[in-house]
Amino acid sequence: SNPSILILPGDGIGPEVMSQVERIIEWFGDKRGLKFDVETDLVGGAAYDNHGTPLADETMARALEVDAVLLGAVGGPKYDDLDFSVKPERGLLRLRKEMDLFSNLRPAQCFDALADFSSLKKDVVAGLDIMIVRELTSGVYFGEPRGIHKEGNERVGINTQRYTESEIARVARSAFELARKRNNKVCSMEKANVMESGILWRDVVTEIHQAEYPDVELSHMYADNGAMQLVRAPKQFDVIVTDNLFGDVLSDCAAMLTGSLGMLPSASLGAPDANGRPKALYEPVHGSAPDITGQGKANPIACILSFAMALRYSFDQSDEATRLEKAVEKVLADGVRTADLMGPEGGSPVSTTEMGDVILEALDAS
Ligand code: NAI
Ligand code: MG
Repeated sequence: SNPSILILPGDGIGPEVMSQVERIIEWFGDKRGLKFDVETDLVGGAAYDNHGTPLADETMARALEVDAVLLGAVGGPKYDDLDFSVKPERGLLRLRKEMDLFSNLRPAQCFDALADFSSLKKDVVAGLDIMIVRELTSGVYFGEPRGIHKEGNERVGINTQRYTESEIARVARSAFELARKRNNKVCSMEKANVMESGILWRDVVTEIHQAEYPDVELSHMYADNGAMQLVRAPKQFDVIVTDNLFGDVLSDCAAMLTGSLGMLPSASLGAPDANGRPKALYEPVHGSAPDITGQGKANPIACILSFAMALRYSFDQSDEATRLEKAVEKVLADGVRTADLMGPEGGSPVSTTEMGDVILEALDAS
């Protein structure tokens, strides 16, 4: 049977960008013989409107069964006053939790045609291609005890950074596996100088490296220095592996090395099954962009590149993933731009659908 994909377009521009991905999935079926069984369902506000919950149980069950989930975006002003338990983002959090997606992959890749868009000098970022692997299900965002307590006559806010060996080991493995598919180099970031969890992190990453991945080049860096190096000379890195909190900050920092939010894909991976295929959810980094919803302005590239990651990490189709990435690179080099990619000098932007059109043409020509 064909590999299966569950598409959850979600809210706002989610359905607009996802419809371009659907065309591309069809293209791979028609032109490359790469057929997928695709089903579409609701998540976020759209699911709340229909079922009174941001993720129906049946949808959750399908997400656990399919080979990959593609998600657009969730949320919007319409849902801002809903009770916390049914807010759109709870749908996404439930998916991440029940699929146990502990490894969040955030590439920072600079297309030459967009190098002027970076916050940094062109020569610092031109050709940049790095991957940040962030631990996503543990650490200080989840550790107990937590809360705000009264101590004497003042309040104290408490969070706990807590990592078990196995939590560190599994995200380390995911980074080493990834490095083997790339340039065989991992830099692990923590603060072992001041944090117990950092000392354990460094120990466990080193042990996994020596026992299972001695062929991969491993280095360690304090996360604060890592932030500095990411801005000073980002091309020194290939794969960076780090915890939930440092990963949150470092991946947002790395994102801005490359320009628009409309360009950034992501993958969240869980444990591999017997065939080595991880549970996986692919989504653009951006949100539902209510300010441009329904105007045909949304850049579909972040969502399209997320599907390219699915081809590479869920379907073992690296060559086809590269084909798709090259098609995106080609249209950018040709000067095709959605509104978010226009510099201050302006120009005439293409619509979401027109961007889809030219990427399909570039695929046809590939
Ligand atoms: P956002 O990412 O939706 O938008 C930020 C800015 O970037 C806006 O000006 C928007 O127009 C622009 N933008 C975003 N994606 C774009 C694209 N593909 N093409 C062109 N321009 C794009 O973040 P914001 O405004 O903070 O949040 C809006 C809603 O999205 C909120 O309800 C928020 O909770 C939700 N959200 C959902 C996420 C998800 O589904 N994973 C992630 C972030 C926010
Ligand atoms: Mg963040």
